[in-house]
Amino acid sequence: MTKKNKVLLVVTGSVGAYKAVEILRTLRDLNIDVRVILTEGAEKFISALTFSSSGAEKVFTEQDQFSVDSEGVSAHISLSRWADCILIAPATANTIAKILAGIADSLVLSTILASEKQIFIAPCMNTNMFENLITQRNINALKEHGMIFIGPEEGKLADFSVGMGRLTDPEKIAQFVASFMQKNTELFKGKRFVVTAGPTREYLDPIRFITNDSSGKMGTEIAKEAKRMGGYVHLICGSSCVDAIGLDKIDKITTTEELFKKTKKAMEKSDILIMAAAPTDFKPEIVQPGKIKKISQLNVQFLKTVDIIKEVGKHKNNKIIVGFALQTDDIEKNAMKKMREKNMDIVIANSNLNMGKDYGSVLIIDKTGRKKVVRNETKQKIAREILIFLKEFWGKERKNG
Ligand SMILES: Cc1cc2nc3c(=O)[nH]c(=O)nc-3n(C[C@H](O)[C@H](O)[C@H](O)COP(=O)(O)O)c2cc1C
Repeated sequence: MTKKNKVLLVVTGSVGAYKAVEILRTLRDLNIDVRVILTEGAEKFISALTFSSSGAEKVFTEQDQFSVDSEGVSAHISLSRWADCILIAPATANTIAKILAGIADSLVLSTILASEKQIFIAPCMNTNMFENLITQRNINALKEHGMIFIGPEEGKLADFSVGMGRLTDPEKIAQFVASFMQKNTELFKGKRFVVTAGPTREYLDPIRFITNDSSGKMGTEIAKEAKRMGGYVHLICGSSCVDAIGLDKIDKITTTEELFKKTKKAMEKSDILIMAAAPTDFKPEIVQPGKIKKISQLNVQFLKTVDIIKEVGKHKNNKIIVGFALQTDDIEKNAMKKMREKNMDIVIANSNLNMGKDYGSVLIIDKTGRKKVVRNETKQKIAREILIFLKEFWGKERKNG
C-alpha cells in the first residue's frame, strides 16, 4: 500500500475561513490525510466541528497549545513532524506578519516555526490590507525564505468591493498543493528562474493592435513546474497567461519593448532564462494618438521590434538561456541555427499547431547537439521534460566548465 500524503491545514481569522472546508474536502478526495488547526480568530468564523465532520483526521484549536501526546511530545512538535507540508488557507495579514517576525505565541505559530517542511500560504484579505507596503514586504520576505504563495486573486470581496485579495479558488489551491506533493523534487533548489510567457501587443491606435495566437500556457506550465522543482520563479507574461498560481513574482507586460526591459532587469538576479513568450516581431512605426477613421485603404509602415533573446544573450555570462523556435519548415535545422545565432544553450523547436492547445509535440536540442522528442503530451508534461533536460544539461556544463 502506498503511503498517503499528509497536509496540515491552518485556518486563520478571515471572512473566507468557510472556504477552507472545500479545500479540506478536495484534499480528501485526492486521497490526502488532513489535520486542521484553527486560530482563535478562525473560530470566530467557523467551528472545529465543521472540519471534523468534513473529513479532517484531527482538528486542533488554540486550546491545545500546551497539550502533550501519550509519548510526552507537545502538540506543535508532533504536528510539525506529522505533516508533509503545511497549507495556511485562508491566511490573514496578521498571521503572515507574525510568521515573518518569528512569533510563536500560539499553536499555529509555534507549529509553523518548528516546521522544516514546505509551507504554502493562500492569503485572503481586503485590498488595502493586501496592497499595504507592510504586507507586501512581509510576503516578499517570506517568499525569499522559500514559502510558496498561492494567490490572492482579483475579484469580488466580502466588503462588496472589487480588487486584489480574494482567496484563490479552494479547489485550485488543493490541486496545486496535491500536484506539488506528487512531483516535488529538489532539482532546482536555490536556482532563480525568469520565465516569459504569452503574446505581446503592438498598438496602431488606442484601440487596435497586432498580436499572435499564443495562449501563454506553455510558459505558465514551465514556470509552475520550475517552482515545483524547488526554484525561485519570476514569470513575465503578456496579455494572456492563465492559472499562474504559486509563483514568486509575476509581472504583466503589453509590448515587446516592455517585455525586453523587464526580462533584462530580471536576468540580473537570475540563473536561468526560459523565453517561452511569443513577442510580436513588428510594430507600427507610428502609433496614432486617436482612433484611426474607417477609410477605404490604410497603409501602415512596420518596424522590427527588439530581438530579446539576442540582446539578452550578449550579456549572458554563465547564465543559461532556453528559447523556443516556432518553425513551419525544416524545423530542426532552423531551430539549431537560431540557437547558435542567439547564444542560447537549449532550443525547443515548436510547431504552430501547438499554439493555444493544451497538448503538443516538441523537439528539445542543446548546444552540444543532444536531442529529446516529446510527442503528443500535455503542456505540463512537456514543461517537465524540458526542465529535466535542462537539469541534465546543467550538470554536464558545470562538470565541463
Ligand atoms: C468580520 C471580519 C473579517 C475579517 N476578515 C479578514 C480577512 O479576510 N483577512 C485578514 O487578513 N484579516 C481579516 N480580519 C481581521 C482578522 O480577523 C484579525 O487580524 C485577527 O487578529 C486575525 O487573527 P489570526 O491571524 O490569528 O487568525 C477580519 C476581521 C473581521 C472582524
